[in-house]
Amino acid sequence: MKKAIASAKGKLVVFIPGMGSITSTFLAGIFNIRKGLSKPFGSLTEMGHIRLGKRTESKHPKIKDFVPLTSINDLEFAGWDIFDHNMYKAAIDAGVIRSEHIDPVKSELEAIKPMPAVFDSEYVKNISGPNVKKGVNKMDMAQQLIDDMKKVMKEKGSDRAVMVWNASTEAYHAPSAIHESLEAFEKAMKDNDPEIAPSSIYAYAALTLGIPFINGAPNFSVDIKAIQELANKNKVPIAGKDWKTGQTLMKTIIGPGLKTRLLGLNGWFSTNILGNRDGEVLDDPSNFKTKEVSKLSVLDSMLDAEQYPELYGDYYHKVRINYYPPRGDEKEAWDNIDIFGWLGMPMQIKINFLCRDSILAAPIVLDTIQFIDLAQRAGFYGTQEWMSFYFKSPMVKEGLKPYHDIFIQKTKLENTLRHMMGEELITRLGNEYYE
Ligand SMILES: NC(=O)c1ccc[n+]([C@@H]2O[C@H](COP(=O)([O-])OP(=O)(O)OC[C@H]3O[C@@H](n4cnc5c(N)ncnc54)[C@H](O)[C@@H]3O)[C@@H](O)[C@H]2O)c1
Repeated sequence: MKKAIASAKGKLVVFIPGMGSITSTFLAGIFNIRKGLSKPFGSLTEMGHIRLGKRTESKHPKIKDFVPLTSINDLEFAGWDIFDHNMYKAAIDAGVIRSEHIDPVKSELEAIKPMPAVFDSEYVKNISGPNVKKGVNKMDMAQQLIDDMKKVMKEKGSDRAVMVWNASTEAYHAPSAIHESLEAFEKAMKDNDPEIAPSSIYAYAALTLGIPFINGAPNFSVDIKAIQELANKNKVPIAGKDWKTGQTLMKTIIGPGLKTRLLGLNGWFSTNILGNRDGEVLDDPSNFKTKEVSKLSVLDSMLDAEQYPELYGDYYHKVRINYYPPRGDEKEAWDNIDIFGWLGMPMQIKINFLCRDSILAAPIVLDTIQFIDLAQRAGFYGTQEWMSFYFKSPMVKEGLKPYHDIFIQKTKLENTLRHMMGEELITRLGNEYYE
């Protein structure tokens, strides 16, 4: 049965903590697309099709014609950063895209200027900036964010919004007792507890207002019990964490292929060089640790050593990120994969991916905005596991293992859309002509 889904009409405000490379690339892209100067390459919500019914029926509508999504013309943008540069300057400084993409949308980009951020240098050590809030405690900071959001929504005449974390990766702090319940978390906010990260303050503010939260970085943010309790209490969807782009995207494409053919793994060495601000932040060991945990988890749960100890019980997995300024955002990644097959004979795969991180991230920022807003209008709340497709460390309900295999993730996403719209699910089991 089709779910009751509220209308997508009206403005949707996108609140973005962190207005650096990804955000400026994303915004420049949106404004170019609106003017017909580019196509939304890489975006499932804008370009993707979905199969419906039997194969013999040949029904493949565009996803945007199948589920009610907000038009990209109805998106409004606001955000926070520790630097107060507008998005035109941010796009130039980021050095990701060219003047031919920036100049035609200069005025749109200049109009977006970050609001003062909630920042804590204990969580991001390698950068500092002047555009930061002051407050008596962390609860007061959350209230200031709430006031910012209410003001923007009033100005834009909107009653719907989503928040996307595109700010720097925070230093690794394991969740502690104050993250276990909403009550303990709120008390800790008032006590200014150092274990409350800025990203969780933004998340708390958003969810308090009923605004869905998407986490594009590997820090915990909404992946803690206290914030999940708030999401469930206020019936707000959350999704994360850590955009699946670059090297990990390749890992979740190649890895399932090896497993499907039962080829064993002796080792997977991944290294890369990048020179953008993200790379600079990740040059600090405590910030890198957060990223490393996220990147390392992928292979273990994808290959499943418990089921296949002879194939995947004893492989060496290493991930290195090296800050190398001359490359800017034009990352270069190398993977050396040592595999084995029949009679245990060794083989090797080498991948050299010259990618552009923010170019890979921008379309999935758009998709997750569209989908989490759809989820909210369909009455979904709490962790949106069907959006795992977009993340390196997908959040799942306690006790479950996440799916990392990108093809399983895509099937889950499409079937969730079919389920929302009361369409038959497609499992591809059974008679080949019909499935
Ligand atoms: N580019 C990718 O492919 C990719 C993939 C996965 C995850 N990520 C993550 O996405 C995030 C953004 O990446 P980027 O390349 O745009 O980085 P960036 O360094 O260009 O931008 C991050 C911005 O966040 C700001 N910032 C830091 N702390 C803040 C705070 N507390 N509040 C508001 N602003 C704050 C910084 O000043 C900076 O402008 C990073 O955490 C990165 O690790 C990126």
